[in-house]
Amino acid sequence: TFVVTEACIRCKYTDCVSVCPVDCFHEGPNFLVIDPAVCIDCAVCAPECPVGAIVADSDVPAGQEHFVDLNARYAAQWPVISQAREPLPDAEHWASVSGKLDHLAE
Ligand code: SF4
Ligand code: F3S
Repeated sequence: TFVVTEACIRCKYTDCVSVCPVDCFHEGPNFLVIDPAVCIDCAVCAPECPVGAIVADSDVPAGQEHFVDLNARYAAQWPVISQAREPLPDAEHWASVSGKLDHLAE
């Protein structure tokens, strides 16, 4: 399955959503997650993300392993998003910031 990692937090560009053939993205206030039970591993979303937030679960960067569980957990709580929308207003600023986990809003 594919996983959304930290770079998405406070950016939420949503380019990923429009290409997913199975609508497995779920939307929180400032982050998206992928439902691992629905993702078919097609990989088309990964190159669409301007900040490179989407990776295969076998390829999660060191220190971000917790995002695998986090995607599964929030996918069960947040609604499906199936159409792209405008990024968050200050997405450009946050795109280059690391260590954003503390900013994740539920
Ligand atoms: Fe959707 Fe394919 Fe990305 Fe999985 S890998 S989230 S099925 S676009
Ligand atoms: Fe997030 Fe990238 Fe999608 S910033 S909303 S994973 S395009």
